[in-house]
Amino acid sequence: MWLDRVGIPIVQAPLAGGASTPALTAAVLNAGAFGFLAAGYKTPETVAADITTLRTLTDSPYGLNIFVPDDDVDPGSFAPYLDEIAPEADRHGVTLGEPRYDDDAFGTKVELAVSERVPVVSFTFGCPEAAVIRLLHGAGSEVWVTVTDIQEAEAAVAAGADVLVAQGSEAGGHRGCFLDRTDREDYGLLVLLQLLTARTDVPVVATGGIGTGAAVAAVLTAGACAAQLGTAFLRCPEAGTSTPHRDALTRYGRTRLTRAFTGRSARGIENRFLSEHTSAAPVAYPQIHHATAPLRAAGRAAGDPDVLNLWAGQAYSLTDDKPAADLIADLSHELATALASASRRVREVGLD
Ligand SMILES: Cc1cc2nc3c(=O)[nH]c(=O)nc-3n(C[C@H](O)[C@H](O)[C@H](O)COP(=O)(O)O)c2cc1C
Repeated sequence: MWLDRVGIPIVQAPLAGGASTPALTAAVLNAGAFGFLAAGYKTPETVAADITTLRTLTDSPYGLNIFVPDDDVDPGSFAPYLDEIAPEADRHGVTLGEPRYDDDAFGTKVELAVSERVPVVSFTFGCPEAAVIRLLHGAGSEVWVTVTDIQEAEAAVAAGADVLVAQGSEAGGHRGCFLDRTDREDYGLLVLLQLLTARTDVPVVATGGIGTGAAVAAVLTAGACAAQLGTAFLRCPEAGTSTPHRDALTRYGRTRLTRAFTGRSARGIENRFLSEHTSAAPVAYPQIHHATAPLRAAGRAAGDPDVLNLWAGQAYSLTDDKPAADLIADLSHELATALASASRRVREVGLD
């Protein structure tokens, strides 16, 4: 496992939608932790250029994250929602985008990962077929699959995944579930970790709501081999996070799961669009993602956070605007302090 060769058991999550940059991932890798480039939403050409740039910035092994395509849905199932949100686009002087289906160039991105011999390829929104995992193994890649419950974990292990990324419902951004259903049970990270480590020997990386070194220590003691943090990196200067998103992360607020922006369940800071449209939002990804894209772009350009998908995990108020290397150094220090304090407590009560 690549993580055995990484000094610090911290992983910078893939951050699709603007925040992911080669500079961020390189800073994390050069600081002794592990990091991902996000392939999601980007063209294969842009992903290839990101890999090339990353390689000029670091020699360290890195990860690439790819979205597994969802099934197509009947356009009738989301037409009423488009009618509901059309006035939002009017208000910003744009029209909604075409609510089209696509597979985010899944096959081409896998081919790219194979030809580039990417050290770690992680998948979210589903598990690739066993043949795809074998292909990546043949190219020397390790394969990680994001899971949110036991059934997904068992399917990923059966398909040949080397590492499971256990995503708790505290996590910012999209839920990594294989199938976005309204009747799913959402597990918090600690529960999910216990369930997974009881049922499988495959190494588990924990993700969701981790904002301090003490929380990294918590997931390591609960059996994870590393902690994957997303929101914590959004305010780093190396990240490509938009200004209104950065500003929202500094303000007090609450987060909620919503399909209002993309048609797939995701956690973001509550704003007007999220409050007004979450209850009507359908399961229709990526159609709703494409439909709201012009509105979100207009909101970003106008600095209007009320129509933006302000993805953030539940611990977002702990974020800071420090460089990624400083963040890794601080988290490492806190991790060591938390583990030492836990050991002291164990000794005090005579359990060692
Ligand atoms: C802005 C943003 C973008 C994200 N993009 C991706 C992505 O492209 N692929 C992925 O597997 N996970 C993505 N995630 C989810 C992370 O992998 C991770 O599960 C999550 O950030 C962990 O919770 P935290 O944000 O509380 O640390 C994203 C999260 C955020 C906040």
